[in-house]
Amino acid sequence: MTTQPHTPAPKRNIPADLTVDADVLDGYTGAVPRHVAVIMDGNGRWATSRGMPRLRGHHAGADSVRRTVEACRYLGVEVLTLYAFSSQNWARPEDEVAGLMTLFDLYIRRERKRLNKNDVRLRVIGDREKLSPKLRSSIADLEGHLAHNSELLLQVAVSYGGREEIVRAARLLAEAAIRGEIDPSEIDESIFSSMLYTGGQPDPDLVIRTSGELRVSNFLLWQLAYSEFHVTETLWPDFDERHFVEALNAFGNRERRFGKTGAQV
Ligand code: IPE
Ligand code: IPE
Ligand code: MG
Repeated sequence: MTTQPHTPAPKRNIPADLTVDADVLDGYTGAVPRHVAVIMDGNGRWATSRGMPRLRGHHAGADSVRRTVEACRYLGVEVLTLYAFSSQNWARPEDEVAGLMTLFDLYIRRERKRLNKNDVRLRVIGDREKLSPKLRSSIADLEGHLAHNSELLLQVAVSYGGREEIVRAARLLAEAAIRGEIDPSEIDESIFSSMLYTGGQPDPDLVIRTSGELRVSNFLLWQLAYSEFHVTETLWPDFDERHFVEALNAFGNRERRFGKTGAQV
């Protein structure tokens, strides 16, 4: 589903304990994207350039997650999808992978209250089977705890790959066809996308990638078909509300044509 950005209704219940600068966010007056997706990259380089172990960069990146969640919540973004750990990131050194898993667990425990107070719902997308049973159960517990919230959907991609997601959807459809529940000739884009983790959601309007890399790295391959890209040189741990507003301003100045001519849109 492709969607046009919209301007949300006036802000209601401003987030509690706002740590980002509201004046900076108020400075943005353009259309607010419904769905923002972020490839949070550059944690390792941030740490290495300071002579610190890479894991310190990941921990610093957790603060940028909090700021970005608050900014989206404040401005009325409906869905924020964060790429936290790819299917390919399992191939990193064992201690980095273990450190990241510990960090996810820490984040879940530390942010529980704040997310709930701010009316944020959580969804983790990706192959959960690869996560430890303990982490799986902490995730399910937090998702359940926040399930009634409605202001912002925070979607975190963990053990996630876009190709893996598409293959999974194809497998689910094939299984449904074998069971006689679906006729293969009926399969269209809408049915296919309903089998993805993001089924029913609007596609991302804006994708932000930090640390300057110009690639998609297996993120939301289907869903990004008509998303606008914004790449900043800023490393993820340095990303704050100013950079977020900069990305929104770049987005606000784009003409989204969805294949049509400039005169048609
Ligand atoms: C992004 O930062 C976080 C993950 C991929 C888990 P990186 O760890 O990729 O940082 P760089 O790209 O090596 O600097
Ligand atoms: C993309 O970053 C994955 C996440 C941000 C979780 P990577 O650092 O893994 O991407 P590549 O390897 O530079 O493409
Ligand atoms: Mg990287």
